[in-house]
Amino acid sequence: MKPVTLTFIEKTRIAPAMWQFIFVADKPLPPFQPGQFFLARTGNMFSAYLPRPLFLAPCDEVAGNWPVSRFQLTLSARHLADRGLAWLFSCPPARKIDAFGPLGCGFTLPATTKNLLVPIDFELGMGVFLVGSLFTMRKSLNVTLAFESKNPLPAAIVRRFPPHVEITTTLTTDRLLWPDAIIAIGGIPFYQRLKARLSAVRLRPAPGLAQILLADAPLRPCGVGACGLCAVPTAAGSRLACLAGPVFDLATLDLEVLADD
Ligand code: FES
Repeated sequence: MKPVTLTFIEKTRIAPAMWQFIFVADKPLPPFQPGQFFLARTGNMFSAYLPRPLFLAPCDEVAGNWPVSRFQLTLSARHLADRGLAWLFSCPPARKIDAFGPLGCGFTLPATTKNLLVPIDFELGMGVFLVGSLFTMRKSLNVTLAFESKNPLPAAIVRRFPPHVEITTTLTTDRLLWPDAIIAIGGIPFYQRLKARLSAVRLRPAPGLAQILLADAPLRPCGVGACGLCAVPTAAGSRLACLAGPVFDLATLDLEVLADD
């Protein structure tokens, strides 16, 4: 974990209520996993805003070519209810943002993975490009991105993914039986639906089959296991999302308790 200064370069609208942000780090960063996060100080020196977790992804043209100094972040209108992220949203170009990281545990793929299913709640935004570097680096993977979306996917988003990646908006039974690894990005209700569908078609989904990103976990203020405020319930007891997560095994999280919080 190291301090890093991120310079905000540009913001582009990529869907009606979704924006891609580009940042340049003050120094090239060594590899980190999608799902690991950086804590960024938002607001100015007079604000008491707590740092916010940013889930950065290397920009497309450099993914797999670490170290990397250019990163993207995708946010949707949902995030603007958060004061710190709303501040980030309104930053002018060239604004410098102090952050530190990477923190936590991200997505990992066993070397034996052949078929990867990636269910994503499109409206959450941050999942859109986050996991791209995983399968950009492993060209031999068969990848299906399954977006859950109330609206048709913008063509510009579909074009951003390599041709070998299948993109769908339907999660059929066949698609749930096909993968040997699943990585998912959404909110708690999205994961509850995914778990119910998996249990219905696989009866006993193997532990480790599905990893999920708890993007809504309160990954602050410390991010290093010191404050205890990010504890989440798992089958093995309470775990700190900033250390043991924010990527967890779908089978081990107590989603019902999380949904009630
Ligand atoms: S954020 Fe402080 S222990 Fe996790």
